Amino acid sequence: MFETLKAEPPEGLIATMAAFAADTHPEKLDLGVGVYRDASGQTPVMAAVRAAEAAMLARQSTKAYVGAGGNRPFAAFMEELVLGAGHPARAAGRVQVLQTPGGCGALRLAADLVVRAARGTRALVSDPTWPNHVPLIGGAGLAVDSYPYYDAASGTIAFEAMLTTLDRLPAGSLVVLHGSCHNPTGADLSREQWRELAALLGRRGLVPLVDLAYQGLGEGPDADAWAVRLLAESLPELLIGASCSKSFGLYRERVGAIIVVAANAAAAQVCMGQLQMLARRMYSFPPDHGAAIVATVAGDPALRAQWTAELEAMRARIAAQRERLAAALRREFGSGRFDFIAGQRGMFSLLGLEAAAVARLRAEHHVYIAADSRVNIAGLPEPQVERLARALRAVAG
Ligand SMILES: Cc1ncc(COP(=O)(O)O)c(C=O)c1O
Repeated sequence: MFETLKAEPPEGLIATMAAFAADTHPEKLDLGVGVYRDASGQTPVMAAVRAAEAAMLARQSTKAYVGAGGNRPFAAFMEELVLGAGHPARAAGRVQVLQTPGGCGALRLAADLVVRAARGTRALVSDPTWPNHVPLIGGAGLAVDSYPYYDAASGTIAFEAMLTTLDRLPAGSLVVLHGSCHNPTGADLSREQWRELAALLGRRGLVPLVDLAYQGLGEGPDADAWAVRLLAESLPELLIGASCSKSFGLYRERVGAIIVVAANAAAAQVCMGQLQMLARRMYSFPPDHGAAIVATVAGDPALRAQWTAELEAMRARIAAQRERLAAALRREFGSGRFDFIAGQRGMFSLLGLEAAAVARLRAEHHVYIAADSRVNIAGLPEPQVERLARALRAVAG
């Protein structure tokens, strides 16, 4: 049977990771994969996570299955973290939360739910977007197109073009949005733009799927959820894919949640039942470990305060790295060509380099960035800022 299969080339970023692993140069620099690194270049286990994990293991009395919805204290925490304590959609019972294997699991389940509700729905992702959006959402059976989002030449959002495209969509289309810290561009809509977008989505009857993978790493947990809270207040239906991979540093534990905001409480419960059924058919129940760690942090005021402080330190460090890199590039290039980096948010920026420059960066300077020239600023150790600026000057000057 397997002789019918064709070899599948590794996905772009996975190929970049493999090339990096195979490079024997002592000063190779990985700015491809999307993980946070501290000043020494490590992706640390957060102290609050480490303490919660130890406490959780000490008191765990069983490894029996978690229920179909996953860890319920975790789900309650995610609902509050994303939507805020007093959100009217929560008060109206319009919200349901299912624990998922990472943000990826949430996005896939969201697309599966849409297929169940309205087979033939078209999904639109931003151009550019995180490359995995297309297979995750398309793999569920939705046709995936794109809407304009970013003008690489000016380093700004193509907002008018975005609205024009969305304004032509049939009602019920699924619009995939990045809640904050847009990946790969680092360019987020302003609050005024979000308001305008929310009005358009409502007017046209479009359904957003908001990907919230970087909450806390842009401007802080509440500010980064401002847009999703606005959408949940002003629209009847909304899907959210949330991830704890970055905000808790729990990447390999696969911790995420799908949050459904439905028109009313009964519809939300129907969605929850459908999601449980869809999960059951794919992987049955979610893994417990990472979600139990998050629930332990959430349930202990001291650990929660510690986590909040650690998250804020990560956010501040990324913002400082943005300033440093923009300043170093200004010195190297003698121009403000890359000044946009300082004003953007989250882990990534898109440098706007040609493929040949990306390849030279790798071959001549042992610096690995994604093929679309996305650079992981959160993965850049302080001592390497000048080196990166010089390398960029050499390949893109
Ligand atoms: C934009 C975006 N969405 C979702 C995810 C999902 O992350 P995970 O499945 O690791 O939680 C990522 C991870 O890199 C991402 O960059």
